Amino acid sequence: MSSLEVDISSIQPGATVAVKWRGKPVHIKHRTDEEIQLARSVDLRALRDPQDDSERVIKPEWLVVVGVCTHLGCIPLPNSGEFRGWFCPCHGSHYDTSGRARKGPAPKNLEVPVYTFLEENKVLIG
Ligand code: FES
Repeated sequence: MSSLEVDISSIQPGATVAVKWRGKPVHIKHRTDEEIQLARSVDLRALRDPQDDSERVIKPEWLVVVGVCTHLGCIPLPNSGEFRGWFCPCHGSHYDTSGRARKGPAPKNLEVPVYTFLEENKVLIG
């Protein structure tokens, strides 16, 4: 199984960068303090796929998710939608700043791949 090393030093706060890993897009989002607060302030009972933000990140400022909509597999647009995370234009699913499904037909949160930090600004996906 192949792993992918990504230098994240140039990803500005608020920006999301897409890389390709095992044929799939992986989105790396550099979250702002506000986006982290938004992700943490959600009542888990309001979620269809309840998961605390802390279970989805290693470092709060970095969110790494597979950029494939959990409805039917389109690629959702980062930094979009009603919850400021992702919006999938295929059938209108909205994800929040933790990549959790919030509105529309997506049944699950965006998948968090296996990854680790090799250095402060270097991530190994897979
Ligand atoms: Fe994303 Fe249907 S594939 S909403």
